[in-house]
Amino acid sequence: MKLDRKDILKALETITLAGEGKNMVESEAVRNVLTFGDEVVVELVMQTPALHIRKRAEADIIKTIHDLVSPDAKVKVNVKIEAPEKPEIKGKAIPGISNIIAVSSGKGGVGKSTITANLAVTLAKMGFKVGVLDADIYGPSMPIMFDVERERPISVMIDGKSKMKPISSYGVEILSIGFFTSPEQAVIWRGPMAGKALNQMIFDADWGELDFLLLDLPPGTGDIHLSIMQALPITGAVIVSTPQAVALADAKKGVAMFRQESINVPVLGIIENMAYFTPEELPDNKYYIFGKEGARNLAEDLEVPFLGEIPLVQSIREAGDYGRPAALQTATPLEAAFEELARNVVQETVDRNDNLPATEAIKITTMAGCSAVKKK
Ligand SMILES: Nc1ncnc2c1ncn2[C@@H]1O[C@H](COP(=O)(O)OP(=O)(O)O)[C@@H](O)[C@H]1O
Ligand SMILES: [Mg+2]
Repeated sequence: MKLDRKDILKALETITLAGEGKNMVESEAVRNVLTFGDEVVVELVMQTPALHIRKRAEADIIKTIHDLVSPDAKVKVNVKIEAPEKPEIKGKAIPGISNIIAVSSGKGGVGKSTITANLAVTLAKMGFKVGVLDADIYGPSMPIMFDVERERPISVMIDGKSKMKPISSYGVEILSIGFFTSPEQAVIWRGPMAGKALNQMIFDADWGELDFLLLDLPPGTGDIHLSIMQALPITGAVIVSTPQAVALADAKKGVAMFRQESINVPVLGIIENMAYFTPEELPDNKYYIFGKEGARNLAEDLEVPFLGEIPLVQSIREAGDYGRPAALQTATPLEAAFEELARNVVQETVDRNDNLPATEAIKITTMAGCSAVKKK
């Protein structure tokens, strides 16, 4: 049997790759088709590194050639992934931790830590293994929010190395910069020092297997953020803002920071906290005291997903102070709001992992006035 290249191309014209409008020949995903007797080699170029999409394309090609050209054709598909725009920098992946999500806000006091704590317990309730790393050197609040203020991590021996064991509370593993400083002690850390401490809390800690490690970042967009971003391969960032103009302006800076070339962390979306005030006994009454839908509109403007809105309710504040995140109360509107938020975060994380290469920790070294991005 001798296969004809033209017949193969015609058959491939019936296949359209996921996410593309044109068939794979027209879109030039098929770079080459070679036939040798009853053998055919299809050279395919794809943009996405997602294995399941690749496998599906391969299976489609083989089936289509068997169906439309010859059931005896020996089909080989060579897939090449188109080089990503950014040169690939290999960093240190963290064994056992699947996704690191940075929770960030341009402005302090918008509820970044409150959202982190509630998102963490909600993800844990959904069955995920969750850790929280409280990296807010200016005001670590996870120890209070999880009622573990007096706890101190112990060290355990893992493979002959001493590792810090996170504190567990409500099914969430926690390490906080607050465990290592007394509450009265003002912590003014320089970027590199904080980066080093955080590095230890990640790489020298016994986190075990985690689906999500949430990182409560300090507010703002300073030096310290650069250090953290350089030290850790962050999967994506979520940005918390209130609907108020001053908070939105800072949230915008936050998005810009993650998008800047030397950081380049995908923004998974924006969360609107304190979206409206609602009295607990009158949940249908909504008062838009900080303005209406500001963060939702900002997400639209910046073309990032809107992940959800959380109202301003007294019980959220009380629960935070008491040390038992409000989302733990079952069958409440709040639980539902946090569940929707968590589902969106999971969805965006999955999409991000399907479509983009892993974020690598990068190291920027400055030498004699010139900076270079170096392999770690
Ligand atoms: N949705 C909310 N409803 C009521 N109080 C909230 C809400 N979000 C945050 N707070 C309260 O606002 C204050 C600041 O929140 P926090 O999470 O510490 O902010 P950040 O980490 O951004 O500085 C805390 O007292 C917290 O309990
Ligand atoms: Mg905070």
